Amino acid sequence: MSRSTAAVVALRDYHPQQESMRDTILEGLRLPQKTLPAFYFYDERGSQLFDRITELPEYYLTRAELAIMREHGAEIGALVGEHASIIELGSGSSLKTRLLIDSLREPAAYVPVEIARDQLMVAANSIAADYPNLEVLPICADFSEPFDLPHPRIAPLRNLVYFPGSTIGNFHSDEAYDLLLAMRRIARKGGALLIGVDLKKDRATLERAYNDAQGVTAQFNFNMLVRLNRELDATFDLNAFRHRAIWNEARGRIEMHLVSQRAQTVLVAGERVEFRAGEYILSECSYKYTRTQFAALAAEAGFEVERVWTDAASLFSVQYLTN
Ligand code: TRP
Repeated sequence: MSRSTAAVVALRDYHPQQESMRDTILEGLRLPQKTLPAFYFYDERGSQLFDRITELPEYYLTRAELAIMREHGAEIGALVGEHASIIELGSGSSLKTRLLIDSLREPAAYVPVEIARDQLMVAANSIAADYPNLEVLPICADFSEPFDLPHPRIAPLRNLVYFPGSTIGNFHSDEAYDLLLAMRRIARKGGALLIGVDLKKDRATLERAYNDAQGVTAQFNFNMLVRLNRELDATFDLNAFRHRAIWNEARGRIEMHLVSQRAQTVLVAGERVEFRAGEYILSECSYKYTRTQFAALAAEAGFEVERVWTDAASLFSVQYLTN
């Protein structure tokens, strides 16, 4: 039997329904600045494309984060201590998690939370197979909405929320604050958050990371439209839009745009959506922080930054926050 079909671990499913997808998408497309909710990027194809992004030469984030996790695993393990329950939000293919699990002493459980159900189950079963002593409790959910935490067989000594990949950067500051608050609740008293945070740097490096030469990020961006065409009977002509990613210095964020190449009308779930030539959909933001800025945000949400690790070039940071 292949790994993808072996039902080893039981799934808790909170995946949102189709009706809510229609409403959320249309709401965003009715705004003066059209937007699309970022988590709809992550269907199966979107998740695969994202895995390819992480391997691109221009996309420094994943390499830098992995290097930090490799170099400082022992110290991370010592800070977290034994019998921790790892709750990972947006676990994807759980690749970085293996480095974390390897660094910890007898972790009590691994709870991956991920919206892409098939990818979640493949990753959960694969971790369960490779770590037979670790209880794996996958949850299919949009992690920015509330979900119930399962109770591991072994009572954990500490909840460690793991939020790698600078996913925190994909939220505006009020949402990032709410999410940090939610993570503090999940960590509970005495718990901790291990979070990947991308750092501010020169425009060229930032823009290159989201405009790769092979065009994988463009495909990832376009996949949103492909998905709307398939799932909401939308009529986006992919040749009539173009991918663009720019560093918005004033707002401290990379913006991904889908730019309409001409005036056009697109049908989405039966509704007419009008575009002017040059008008764009803001499909995703990726905020970058200085260490000081992130410490301020963390403090607002009631976390204390206990330790910050960076790579040799200070491109990226992994931070250990306590509750
Ligand atoms: N959080 C990462 C980042 O902001 C990963 C990511 C999310 C991403 N959406 C993306 C990367 C879109 C490229 C394109 O970089």
